[in-house]
Order: sequence, then C-alpha cells, then structure tokens
Amino acid sequence: MGPFPLGRPARLAVFASGRGTNLEALLEAFPKGHPLGEVVLVLSDNPEAYALERARRRGVEAVALPWQGRRAFEGEALALLEARRVDLVLLAGFMRLLSAQFVGVWYGRLLNLHPSLLPDYPGLRVHERVLAAGERQTGSTVHFVDQGMDTGPILLQGRVPVLPGDTPETLEARVLRLEHRLYPKAVRLLLRGLAFPPPSDLKGRLGEEAAGAFLALSPRDKPLYLRAWALLRAWGREDLVPAAFLGRAGVWGRAAFLAAHLLAGADPVLREEVATLPPEVRARVEGALRVESSP
Ligand code: GAR
Repeated sequence: MGPFPLGRPARLAVFASGRGTNLEALLEAFPKGHPLGEVVLVLSDNPEAYALERARRRGVEAVALPWQGRRAFEGEALALLEARRVDLVLLAGFMRLLSAQFVGVWYGRLLNLHPSLLPDYPGLRVHERVLAAGERQTGSTVHFVDQGMDTGPILLQGRVPVLPGDTPETLEARVLRLEHRLYPKAVRLLLRGLAFPPPSDLKGRLGEEAAGAFLALSPRDKPLYLRAWALLRAWGREDLVPAAFLGRAGVWGRAAFLAAHLLAGADPVLREEVATLPPEVRARVEGALRVESSP
C-alpha cells in the first residue's frame, strides 16, 4: 500500500521556485545521515531562486533547470531523480504544474504544500482571498499530488487563526511558521508508513459497507482514517480495519483513532485517554506516539 517504510533512509528531492523557507525547514529536519531520510537534491525551474543557495550552503546538490517548457523540464528532472535514486519528491513553493505523465510516475511519492485548508482556496493569491471572505481560520495542507491543481488526497493539515487587522503579509507569515513544522511532520508520517493515498481497490480491501463509509467522509477526515488503518496494520490487526471504520472494532479501533488523532497534533487532552486503555493496547499507542516525538 505504498512504498513506505523503506527499511533504510529515504532519499528526498525538493523542488522549489523561490525563497525556499520551507526547503530550509526540510533541510534541517532531514540532514545527511538522518535515519529516516535525507535531502539529496534540490531542483529549481528558476536559476535565481534563493532556495538553490540554501541547499548549496548545506552542501546539498542544487540544480537549476531554467524553464523552457514543461516537456524539457520534466525530461531532465525525471532523469536526475532516477540518477540520484530519489525515493520521494517534495514540492515546496514550486510554482509550476506538473504533467499527468510525471504525476503518474511519482503518484504516492510526490507531495505538495499549499497555504490553505484545502479543498478551500486552491490556486494563487490565497491569503488575499481568505481575508476578503472574512474567514476566522486558515491553515496549510500537505497533500499527495494528483493530476489536478491542489486536488490530491490530503495527508496532513494545520490551522492558524485569522486575527483582526491581519493583512495578506501578516497572515502569510503566520501560515509560513506553521508550514515549517507541518511539512517535516507530514514527511515523517509518510516515511514511517503512517500515511498513504486511498488505495484504488477500497471495496475489495474493506468490503462494501466500510468502503462506503470511508468514501462518504470529507477530504479532510480521510487522512485520519488512513492513519488509523496504517496503525492497525502495524499492530498486526489489519483484520479490524473495516469494523474500525464503522466504529465497531472495540478497544483496538478506539486506540487506533486516538493515536491517529494524536499523531497529527490533536489537543493533548486526548493523551489522558491513552491511560485508560488496557495495558497491551496502551503500549502500542505509546509506541506509535514515541516514534513521532523522536527526531
Ligand atoms: C508556501 O507558503 C507554500 O505553501 C506556497 O508557497 C510558499 C513557499 O514559500 N505554495 C504554493 O502556493 C503552491 N501553490 P517558501 O518558498 O518560503 O517555502
């Protein structure tokens, strides 16, 4: 159900078009020698991008492929990704759309960061539109890239308030600070095998009723269910997934959803509930949470 966990450190590539503050956060979270993964390549369509400089300063290979059309860029990018044996591609402020063919090759191993609570506000000029609409909350989304623009399955979201007096600039700064924690966290979940896009054969795997329940969820709730699925699988209880999705898997189902919430940074008040689980189940939940709190 996706290539992760790999059982070895993953080789990460980052595509960035501009200043690269999120790249910087990724370089910090996944340096050379990190057991989970390391950034080995930074690619930009813009030779002036400060992102390239950030990579070079940290001794990471930085390559500019000046934009001369999508076909040329993608041909060279695909060859480089193969030559560097890259496992996962992270778009971080990469302002070009990739073709269906490129996305098809990398689906499940290609993530994007978008500065809104998708599916709301896809596209550009997000913060201006959020302010104009009078939203009280906004945030950011890490998602698997599919063939649409900002439409792929959500992996992780974070929220920040919109405050009185905010301008697009103050809001952008607040969202960026959130993103610097959110993106590395999403990548850790993926590399640990705790996130994957919904499998295409859901009915075959879950049965009609549980698959139907999953498909009826909002795009924002689906990643929680997929994390619970991944946890039950890691605990050797994948047989319970359909019942868990229907709220009928008893204490193991509750434990998986509790851990799935907490792994995404849910209110720590939920942590108190972990203590109420039977010892065997509790040990599994604590193990899963310990993994996320380690570097
Ligand atoms: C980030 O806020 C990211 O969410 C956004 O560009 C910014 C890049 O900042 N991405 C998009 O809008 C993609 N459509 P950075 O260059 O400082 O990382």
